Amino acid sequence: MNEIIQAMKERRSCRKYQDAMIPKEDLEEIIEAGLYAASGMGKQSPIIVAVTNKEVRDELSKMNASAMGSENDPFYGAPVVLIVLADKSVRTEVYDGSLVMGNLMLAADAKGIGSCWIHRAKEEFESEEGKALLKRLGIEGDYEGIGHCVLGYRADEKPVPAPRKENRVFWCE
Ligand SMILES: Cc1cc2nc3c(=O)[nH]c(=O)nc-3n(C[C@H](O)[C@H](O)[C@H](O)COP(=O)(O)O)c2cc1C
Repeated sequence: MNEIIQAMKERRSCRKYQDAMIPKEDLEEIIEAGLYAASGMGKQSPIIVAVTNKEVRDELSKMNASAMGSENDPFYGAPVVLIVLADKSVRTEVYDGSLVMGNLMLAADAKGIGSCWIHRAKEEFESEEGKALLKRLGIEGDYEGIGHCVLGYRADEKPVPAPRKENRVFWCE
C-alpha cells in the first residue's frame, strides 16, 4: 500500500501522554505540514498558536474543561497544544481550519508523536477569558477557534481502529 495512504489509515487519537516535551524542530516540522493544508481560494486564513508553556497550557486546559463542565484535564496530560484558529471573515474558515487540524495529526503520527483533536475551541475563544488570552499572546483579529491539536509522546499502545461503518459510499458508475 502507498505509505501516505497507510499512514492515514494507521493514525489514531492518543489519550494518554508522557510528560516529556517534544523538541522544537519536530514541532516546527509538524506545524509546517499544517500550514501546507489546502484552503479555499488559497487564502491560507488559519493560524496556529503553538503552546509549550506549561502555565498557558494549564490555563487552556481549565478553560476547556469548564466549557465541558468537567474538572479533569481534557488534554489528557499532553505537554503541547497547537490551537488552530481561523479568520471569521473568510467564508471557508471552518473547512480550512479543519484541514489544518488533519494535516497536524497526520504529520505528528508520521514522526511517532501522539495527537488528539480536542474540541470546544469555538466556545473557548468566544469567552472573554479566551479573547484576553489571545490578546496577551499578541494575536489581533477576529478569529474563530477550530480545534486544539494536543501533542506528546504516547504513554499507551496505539489502539486498533474501529471497523469502518458500512454503507457510507455511494457509487454512480
Ligand atoms: C471535530 C472533532 C472533535 C473532537 N473532539 C474530541 C475531544 O474533545 N476529545 C477527545 O478525546 N477526542 C476528540 N476527538 C477525537 C475523536 O474522538 C476521534 O477522532 C474518534 O474517536 C476516532 O478515533 P481515531 O482518531 O483514533 O480514529 C475529536 C475529533 C474530531 C474530528
